[in-house]
Amino acid sequence: MAKSPSFTCTSCGAAYSKWSGRCEACGSWNTIVEEAPLSSAGPAGKTLGGAKGANVTLSDLATEETPPPRAQSGIEELDRVLGGGLVPASAILVGGDPGIGKSTLLLQATARFAANGLNVLYISGEEASAQVRMRAQRLGLAQAPVKLGAETNLRDILTTLEAEKPHLAIIDSIQTMWADNVDSAPGSVSQVRAAAHELTQFAKRRGTAIILVGHVTKEGQIAGPRVVEHMVDTVLYFEGERGHQFRILRAVKNRFGPADEIGVFEMTGSGLQEVANPSALFLSERGQPSPGSVVFAGIEGTRPVLTEFQALVAPTPHSQPRRSVVGWDGGRLAMILAVLEARCGIPFAGLDVYLNVAGGMKIADPAADLAVATALLSAREDAALPVDTVVFGEISLSGALRPVGQTENRLKEAVKLGFSTAIVPQRSKAGGTGLTLRPMNDLAQVVGEVFGAG
Ligand code: TYD
Ligand code: MG
Repeated sequence: MAKSPSFTCTSCGAAYSKWSGRCEACGSWNTIVEEAPLSSAGPAGKTLGGAKGANVTLSDLATEETPPPRAQSGIEELDRVLGGGLVPASAILVGGDPGIGKSTLLLQATARFAANGLNVLYISGEEASAQVRMRAQRLGLAQAPVKLGAETNLRDILTTLEAEKPHLAIIDSIQTMWADNVDSAPGSVSQVRAAAHELTQFAKRRGTAIILVGHVTKEGQIAGPRVVEHMVDTVLYFEGERGHQFRILRAVKNRFGPADEIGVFEMTGSGLQEVANPSALFLSERGQPSPGSVVFAGIEGTRPVLTEFQALVAPTPHSQPRRSVVGWDGGRLAMILAVLEARCGIPFAGLDVYLNVAGGMKIADPAADLAVATALLSAREDAALPVDTVVFGEISLSGALRPVGQTENRLKEAVKLGFSTAIVPQRSKAGGTGLTLRPMNDLAQVVGEVFGAG
């Protein structure tokens, strides 16, 4: 029997039985390659290529393992996002739009790690050494014992790494790396994949922590292959909004710590500064009570963060009303609007709806449901919520409010920032935080008691 060849897309991993130029699944061109099957393709029992493999060493789960010693940079916002510091032999991908500040962040981080006694290499494939040195001078880091190299040839870089055996190496960026055994241009899917593979293997083999910098495409993916995300232990995104000085480092995957953890920085004339109290920053532009504005007591990773939802509801001149969302999930907004209509009798037909998270934050916490619903109601009824009030809670399709996790931490953060009232779901477990709680059973009760409507 002829064995059937197997083809895989190196960008998204989709499998095919025959080669084609374009991947049906992700739409990438020239990413489909033939993969030699790893499992036996022949009759059952026959070993790979006729040769016998070695036995894999097996152990039980109870085997004593000491947690890896972590290295701290001293930049607290970074250490926390890493899960408590840098783990040796780990591979980390730092993605973000060009110009957002990845190189700045990593130069600052390497300088701190080096000052703490780590042997640190910074390989720049994008900038000449002189450019990186100039940035270091601007940041006041020119004296930091970081070893700097400007190179894109992967073979030379690996040879250097073997010789230097650093604790940490930065590769800025993975899209500029060039492996001479791969027959395509730097930045192509196969080059990025090969370079990421070699470098992560090196990390595991030699105990070096490797940070790969990756540029992100307009669609929000690390340019080139998603496979890089699967290869590394930790994926961090560095995000920020145009016109805002602050930047958010977000863990989207972390084998050594909680995902969804964020670190907040501010880009200044002398590099990135840590923002230790993000709630104060996100709420800094608030003033008088205004309809449509609601403060949400959220949790980002392990930390409570207060942000402001702003809603605007206006009659539409169009037959199809607009639903525009920035910083939150559009599908979720549609759901909240449907629940308000179906369960509370508040129609939004014929009305444009705009929803925005102030300051450019992106919120994924499900507890934002109630804050959004309250902002929509406040905008629609033209009734401002008192400025001393925070809101949080999850909404089910029936309109019932569900308690959410970490209620106490949310309330404590609210107290810290001077709030005195919280609208929360009934049965929320809140200890003595000193806040006046307004527990609500369902959305209809919010409509009636908070807005006197419905
Ligand atoms: P950079 O780290 O080069 O971005 P990336 O590596 O993600 O492409 O950051 C570039 C931007 O940061 C650039 O627009 C200038 C700005 N910047 C400051 O505002 N202050 C500073 O101290 C530095 C070094 C850069
Ligand atoms: Mg850069």
